[in-house]
Amino acid sequence: MKKSSLFFVLLCLFQISKLGFCLAGSVHKDNYNGDKRHGIIRVTSFGAVGDGKTDDTQAFLKAWEVVCNGGNDTTLLMPLGKTFMLKPIKFAGPCKSSSVTFLIRGNLVAPGYTWDVGICPAWISFGSINGLVVKGGGTLDSRGSVWWGSGNAQDTDRPTAMHFNSCNGLRVYNIQHLDSPRNHIGLSSSKNISISGLKLTAPGDSPNTDGIDISNCIGVDIRDSVISTGDDCIAINSGSSFINITGLFCGPGHGISVGSLGKDGEFATVEEVRVKNCTLSNTTNGVRIKTYQNGLGYARKISFEDINMVDSKNPIIIEQNYYNRGKLEEVGFEYSNYQNLGSKNRFYQTESGNARGVKVSDVRYSRISGSSASDNAVTFNCNADLGCDDIVMDDVNIVSAKAGQVVSASCNNVHGSYLNSPVSCINK
Ligand SMILES: *[C@@H]1O[C@H](CO)[C@@H](O)[C@H](O)[C@H]1NC(C)=O
Ligand SMILES: *[C@@H]1O[C@H](CO)[C@@H](O)[C@H](O)[C@H]1NC(C)=O
Ligand SMILES: *[C@@H]1O[C@H](CO)[C@@H](O)[C@H](O)[C@H]1NC(C)=O
Ligand SMILES: *[C@@H]1O[C@H](CO)[C@@H](O)[C@H](O)[C@H]1NC(C)=O
Ligand SMILES: *[C@@H]1O[C@H](CO)[C@@H](O)[C@H](O)[C@H]1NC(C)=O
Repeated sequence: MKKSSLFFVLLCLFQISKLGFCLAGSVHKDNYNGDKRHGIIRVTSFGAVGDGKTDDTQAFLKAWEVVCNGGNDTTLLMPLGKTFMLKPIKFAGPCKSSSVTFLIRGNLVAPGYTWDVGICPAWISFGSINGLVVKGGGTLDSRGSVWWGSGNAQDTDRPTAMHFNSCNGLRVYNIQHLDSPRNHIGLSSSKNISISGLKLTAPGDSPNTDGIDISNCIGVDIRDSVISTGDDCIAINSGSSFINITGLFCGPGHGISVGSLGKDGEFATVEEVRVKNCTLSNTTNGVRIKTYQNGLGYARKISFEDINMVDSKNPIIIEQNYYNRGKLEEVGFEYSNYQNLGSKNRFYQTESGNARGVKVSDVRYSRISGSSASDNAVTFNCNADLGCDDIVMDDVNIVSAKAGQVVSASCNNVHGSYLNSPVSCINK
């Protein structure tokens, strides 16, 4: 055997062993001649049992191949009244049709045991599928509690429940989803996404169970949804712009967050974010912008309008001096200009003069009302060199949740204007 073909055989064996763990639906061209009437493909026609116990992963992948190879708009149907058990699975495109629909009328459940996250970072992932429509009715149960114990203390030891990567034109409607091991939905490297009617639920003390994490996405509209989980309801991360969040009920949870941006000295950008008509109830934070002090880049053109706080612990926050205390890697940079920690040369001092930090500017808070569970309704902790610029507070009227208490604002290095706001930096 020639060296090159031996290498090929080994590569194939490696790929097959990987598939054994994390089943992926690849697209083989022109290998199906089945029934495409009405454009609906039922997973049960491909051997899916739907008793909640039998492993239906292979059946889903066979059905997926057909849908993805279909010439016309096609729909993969998970019928009502059935519960399909899926192991970690990947639906991969590109597909032939410009639009493919997942119709989840029945329920989906995860296997209820843990797996190697290095091989399968998500329970259900969708990759490179344009025009994907996911419509609900049924419930997804990620059975995350098996992952939440102390054995999986690190974020990176637990999978995302549903991940969409490179899915332009994605539409997600009416999905009910419980108990993700980590974030419930991940959106990355995609354009033109619209999501509504979500209901994401996990215990308030479950670890890092964000609702939706967004990174590197342009044009996302999330509306009329309820997110009640253990961490951020929605986190908007680097590379994201033109993000609208409207009509969201969030709580319990950590609120709506831009960031954290600039971790490990990264260049990070977020802009054009509009959060409107949302209620944040019993959240540890309300609306937050959080950046690492040794990062670079910017967060700008962000507005929060018509927000109702109910007993939120820190209703309005900008934290521009964020870092993880207590981690060995991140302790050093406070004290010296340059730390060489093994292979990591990335920590910098952020005291006067070194010009690092993520710029925060053009942020508007309009018509923010309701109650704060803490005395600090507003916390702007901006960096002494960079500051936060063009911060506008217009009609910010938050009262204490405790009778007879007054709330205040804590403002450092923030510049802007304050209109008709009982709570603002001008009161200091
Ligand atoms: C798509 O639908 C059209 C009209 O119904 C039909 O003529 C065509 O053959 C279909 N294409 C495929 C690939 O099934
Ligand atoms: C956005 O996605 C929708 C649905 O897939 C599609 O109809 C529309 O043309 C897309 N718009 C842009 C500007 O790409
Ligand atoms: C607030 O959320 C916590 C969990 O984070 C929960 O235990 C508590 O019951 C909630 N309180 C209210 C009033 O909803
Ligand atoms: C966000 O809302 C603004 C204002 O209503 C609108 O002009 C824009 O098109 C929206 N963007 C998305 C991605 O939905
Ligand atoms: C605000 O959001 C709620 C919840 O989705 C919705 O019922 C209501 O109609 C929205 N109000 C406006 C003015 O958009």
